[in-house]
Amino acid sequence: MPNKLIALAAARLRAGGVVAFPTETVYGLGADARNEDAVRRVFEIKSRPADHPLIVHLAEAAHVDAWAREIPEAARRLMARFWPGPLTLVLPARDDVPRVVTGGQDSVALRCPGHPMALALLREFDGAQGGGLAAPSANRFGAVSPTEAWHVRTAFGIQVDQVLDGGPCRFGLESTIVSLLGGRPRVLRPGALPLSALREALGDDGIEHGPPSDVAAPATPRVPGALAAHYAPATPLEIHAIDALAARATTLLDQGLRIAVLRRNRNLRGKGLPPALPQFLLPARVEPYARSLYARLRELDRFAFDRVLVEAPPEDETWWAVNDRLTRAAEGSAAEVRP
Ligand code: TXA
Ligand code: MG
Repeated sequence: MPNKLIALAAARLRAGGVVAFPTETVYGLGADARNEDAVRRVFEIKSRPADHPLIVHLAEAAHVDAWAREIPEAARRLMARFWPGPLTLVLPARDDVPRVVTGGQDSVALRCPGHPMALALLREFDGAQGGGLAAPSANRFGAVSPTEAWHVRTAFGIQVDQVLDGGPCRFGLESTIVSLLGGRPRVLRPGALPLSALREALGDDGIEHGPPSDVAAPATPRVPGALAAHYAPATPLEIHAIDALAARATTLLDQGLRIAVLRRNRNLRGKGLPPALPQFLLPARVEPYARSLYARLRELDRFAFDRVLVEAPPEDETWWAVNDRLTRAAEGSAAEVRP
């Protein structure tokens, strides 16, 4: 028996409404993926360009056949292993999938989210029929994704018909997107599901990936997250190696700028940071770091610093998604302030 708020949200979605809901990655802004007007409203609310496709969220893997065709064995294996969970698969779209959802492309991105409230909503919405909710992250286009319900309310107010509150998101970074459009499965966006998990499921040679710069290559399908300046806070960010932070901070302070440092929570004694410099902390380990990154960036925006210097996280693979988002955040936020 779903609770009343979920039943109400599902009724609103069936009537063409727009409802924000929690997932284990970030909050989504959902609409009936078969209702073109409802989907258009999502684009409008987000100020998202029409050619940037949305992910369709499903209650269960059995429903993919209502959306995709020519589903390869690797896709079935990934669904069996990781759904419900933070993995999105790009597959050839059936002809009846509204092209407003796919940004005009003949492929569709599908995911079965792992948050109990998202699943309850999907089941109540259209569980048995294989219906889906088109849902981008519930933020304005180009801004940082919401990881708590109030982030959505702050961004959109009453433009959204309802915001379901499922608490803070467990992962805090968007899903990993894998394309299965021919050839080897290929990572289009690093995300909450680590590369090591994909390798474990598909074998070492079973998955193609590259550094984030490769992901943005023009030959790949359009992924808005692949724009250099995406996921950006309002405060200009700079990323520096820990040993370079002190010198850069001193330079900017000498210019009279109001700055802060965002660093990993480890002992920094001897690193020579000016003592009066405001310091904000993120956890040292990657999972909790990722979980709190977006909320921290949001919080920092409220101080209106001229610049925030971010300690560069490690380069290794486990930090791929975090480094990807941080780099884009720095590029997006810095668009107007160089040098
Ligand atoms: O974790 C997530 O994935 C969250 C939650 C709400 O599910 N959603 C999310 O949606 O991050 P959005 O719209 O912010 O990002 C969706 C990404 C975009 O980069 C989009 O281009 C890509 O999915 N995408 C959607 N359809 C695609 C397609 N047919 N081909 C390639 N990329 C696609
Ligand atoms: Mg987004």
